[in-house]
This record gives sequence, C-alpha cells and structure tokens, in this order.
Amino acid sequence: MAKRMITTDATEEDIRIEPGLRPQLFSEYIGQEKTKNTLKIFIEAARQRKDSLDHVLFYGPPGLGKTTLACIIANEMGVNIKITSGPAIEKPGEMAAVLNNLQEGDILFVDEIHRLNRQVEEVLYPAMEDFAIDIMIGKGASARSVRLDLPKFTLIGATTRAGLLTAPLRDRFGVVSHLEFYSERELQTILIRSAKVLGVEIEQRGALEIARRSRGTPRLANRMLKRVRDYAQVRYEGKITAQIAAEALDLLEVDRHGLDATDRVLLLTVIDKFSGGPVGLDTLAAAIGEDSGTIEDVYEPFLIKNGFLNRTPKGRVATELAYEHLGRRK
Ligand code: ADE
Repeated sequence: MAKRMITTDATEEDIRIEPGLRPQLFSEYIGQEKTKNTLKIFIEAARQRKDSLDHVLFYGPPGLGKTTLACIIANEMGVNIKITSGPAIEKPGEMAAVLNNLQEGDILFVDEIHRLNRQVEEVLYPAMEDFAIDIMIGKGASARSVRLDLPKFTLIGATTRAGLLTAPLRDRFGVVSHLEFYSERELQTILIRSAKVLGVEIEQRGALEIARRSRGTPRLANRMLKRVRDYAQVRYEGKITAQIAAEALDLLEVDRHGLDATDRVLLLTVIDKFSGGPVGLDTLAAAIGEDSGTIEDVYEPFLIKNGFLNRTPKGRVATELAYEHLGRRK
C-alpha cells in the first residue's frame, strides 16, 4: 500500500476516524460509478505509459469520499501520497518545500484547495504546468529568479465548491470530477461492509434505515452506524434491526428524511421568522448563529437536492415539502 504522509490536523483526524472503514482499492469502493470508471481508465493509461496521472480536481459536498478516492488512486498507481490542506499552507516557501520533497510519481493531495491564499496558489501554477518552481534569490535591485525543477507529480485537489476556485488554478487540472450524493442502496451496501469491518451484526433493513437518514453521505452513515451500534449494545443484544436503528436515530434527533436539529432550525427560521423567504444567506446565518459558508457547503446542498429549500436570486425560500414535513401551514 502507498505510504501516507499527513501534514494537517484536519485531514489527519479525518483519516484517523476509522482507518478500516475506508476502502483502499476501487474494487472495495461503492458508488460514484462515473468518477470511478473514468479514473480507472486514466490510471491504466498512465500506468501503461509509465507516466504520472494528470492533475485531478474533486468537488462536491463534504463526506462523499474525496480523500478516500485520492488514497485509492495512490494505491492503484503504487505511489506515495502526501496529504495537506489549503489553510495549512500559509506561505509560498512552505508550498515550495512541500513540492520539493515529493518524489517522482508522488501524489500531493490538497484538501480545501480553494482556501489557499493567492501567493501560495501562484507557486502551484508553474509546478503543475512545467514541474518547476521559481524561487527569488536576493532582494531589491539584485533580486533574481531561479527555476528549480521538480519531479513529475500528480496534484489532487478537493473542494466543496468548484466555483470558489480561481480560473487559472481550475484550468490546470486535467481531470475534474464532481462527486454526487449516494443512493440509499449504495449507502446500505456501504453500511453492511462497515458493520463487517467493525464486527457488528446488522440486518439488511437495519442498514437501510440508517442509509435513509444519512443524507446521501457515507461519512454520516458510518458515524451513525457507530452510535446505533452503541445503542443496540446497551439497550438490546447488539444486533442492529430496523426498529433499533429507528429508535437510536430518533434519540439522536435525526428524522426519517435525515434532517438533523440544525436543518430543522434552519428551515423553521426561514418559515417562522422570514415568512418562508426569500431571505439572504448572511441574514439567515446570523439568525441561526451558524457560519454562512457552513450553511452553503454542508446544509444547503442536501436540503436543496431533496426539495426542502430553494435558492432564488432574492434569497432562500422554504418549499411546500418543508412546510409539510415540519407541520407548518402556509
Ligand atoms: N466507506 C466510506 N465510503 C465508502 C465507499 N464509497 N465505499 C465503501 N466503503 C466506504
């Protein structure tokens, strides 16, 4: 397996959450068929040419498997992966050092790549295009730029929204892949696999009940599986049935559509405080005491996709379904 070097706390925690639950190869990875199938072709082609893979950008809501896919690519290519994130690299010199430490064929995974500052991002342009970095030596009139060659590497970037990337950075990725929410069936299969890894007994319908409430996101599904396991162990004999899963998730305030307490506060605020909307994102964020970026990245995509919220030019609007689901009348 590929060697992993991790340089940020955020991603380290992400990796540590449950190393065993993360699939290591495409053959173990469930869902994202389109992304998987195209990546397999590009990987095979690069391997046949004994070349490195072109730079890859993954975008989509959190928890859908961007880091996992980057690690799988490293394993499938048989190369090392270095994991870092946009906010972790603050200075151009730090980025230059990371790049300079890579070996031929290595993968550099940059999570939250949209959060790199401009000067750091500019180091990436020649690195991605020409596998070189330009270093300034000296100061004032005697300053000159020296070009340093880098080994051929693959940059894998991940972002929650591709629209946040600057055009020059986005244009330098050869492969751009959008990750989709998972279907209930896919999540059910993932949960059954995870239960096996954790040594937990689960019925098909128990897995489906958790899948239904996981808002299309494996990270949430796996997190809930562990909490349901605890509940099943303490209150019952340990085996997860549909009824036990439903009870445990009700206790966690995750409803049958997967909406959690924050989702409900958000929708109820739009309905009760702003007459169903439209309400601007920043106003809504202030009203519920949540960061507007988090609302946009984490909460909204699911609420919009599932028809609870609409985004209009004038602001956010609660849908009929939201009224109905929350027992409010228009
Ligand atoms: N665990 C988390 N995501 C997964 C996936 N896509 N396939 C299999 N197991 C997973």
